[in-house]
Amino acid sequence: MKILAIETSCDETAVSVLEGQNGNLNVLSNAVSSQIELHKEWGGVVPNLAAREHLKNIIPVLETALSKAKTKQEDIDLIAVTQGPGLIPALLVGVDAAKTLSYVWQKPLIGIHHIEGHIYANFISENKVNSIFNFQFSKFKTKNSKQNTKYQILNTKYKFPMLCLVVSGGHTQLVLMRDHLEYEIIGETQDDAAGEAFDKVARILGLGYPGGPAIAAAAANFQFTIFNLQKKSNNKKSNTQIKFPRPMLHSNDFNFSFSGLKTAVLYLSKEFEKNSKLQIPNHKLQEAIAAEFQQAVIDVLVHKTIKAAEKYNPKTIMLAGGVSANKELRDQLGEKIKETLPTTSYNLPPNPYSLDNAAMIASAAYFRWQKMSQTEKNSAKENWKTLEANAGLRMNDEL
Ligand code: KG4
Ligand code: ZN
Repeated sequence: MKILAIETSCDETAVSVLEGQNGNLNVLSNAVSSQIELHKEWGGVVPNLAAREHLKNIIPVLETALSKAKTKQEDIDLIAVTQGPGLIPALLVGVDAAKTLSYVWQKPLIGIHHIEGHIYANFISENKVNSIFNFQFSKFKTKNSKQNTKYQILNTKYKFPMLCLVVSGGHTQLVLMRDHLEYEIIGETQDDAAGEAFDKVARILGLGYPGGPAIAAAAANFQFTIFNLQKKSNNKKSNTQIKFPRPMLHSNDFNFSFSGLKTAVLYLSKEFEKNSKLQIPNHKLQEAIAAEFQQAVIDVLVHKTIKAAEKYNPKTIMLAGGVSANKELRDQLGEKIKETLPTTSYNLPPNPYSLDNAAMIASAAYFRWQKMSQTEKNSAKENWKTLEANAGLRMNDEL
């Protein structure tokens, strides 16, 4: 079967065509038009601007996805769309486009939870055969166009129960899955999401938007030699290392908190600003703070994931969401699993699928479709009448 999926929950207009055959799914096209350049100016995503861009881009991105997949409307068996959560003006564009296509093409339609999509990006695995396409509408050029890659979903590779650490711009959750599409949230952030903390700290440090990649790059440049900083505190000169708290590291649950960490960065930056005697260039300070902040976030995420795994004994641990693009997090969690839980497999979304895309939505839709009864499948053709975007959609809500 061929699935056409649409994702517009935030600042990426994305359409993908994915083919499913005997449990394997091949991504035939993955078109993504990023709005980063537009929102950069504002230091974050502006919902109404995002919606306007989605409206402008949705048709060209759709056409690109279909043509790159060499697929015509009559070949599509199912339409899937991100129903929520996300920015409502942005979600409405994708949902409306999907409903219109479903009505005009007379194809079944299903709504997918955005985070469910991120989790199912893990089921896309790399296999070098076919071509993948990344579409940058604003620049009208193909990213990675030289890459000859086929992405397949190998259903049998993953064993339940699975534990997924979800880290995105809006969510930080530990999700236990005893089977496909069954989610138990065993821990979550009490305030800011991990990605949100990266973005806010990047803003404090003047590193720009989006914050995650900027912090990661600054942290990678950090050199240990400047770590012993001389600073004045209460008129006493002291050698002080930059050290941030690891919030809720030893709390008796699997929850997280990142807003205090962001405040700690803010106070320290202000202190450094006031202290003109520091002989360290500003970018070196930024790098030192970014490195310690990133490490504080990773320490908490890794510690809680391992603790949860020791309690629930998953056969597979997965990472999902935009922050799963962070190389240090990917590597450090992998090393800790190898060291403490050597029989547990570790899975990651292939790099292009950590960030928002529509292939992940199609992947989740494939597994939803397999679980639906024939009656449900038949009535999915009428879903265009009732499907509504829902900014606050929860994981276990009926979709
Ligand atoms: O999943 P996503 O693309 O959108 C949401 O569903 O929220 O995640 C976006 C978040 C942003 O906060 C961004 O700063 C963060 O993912 N991010 C990263 C990295 N790349 C993106 N955070 C840390 N390191 C990265 N390399
Ligand atoms: Zn996302």
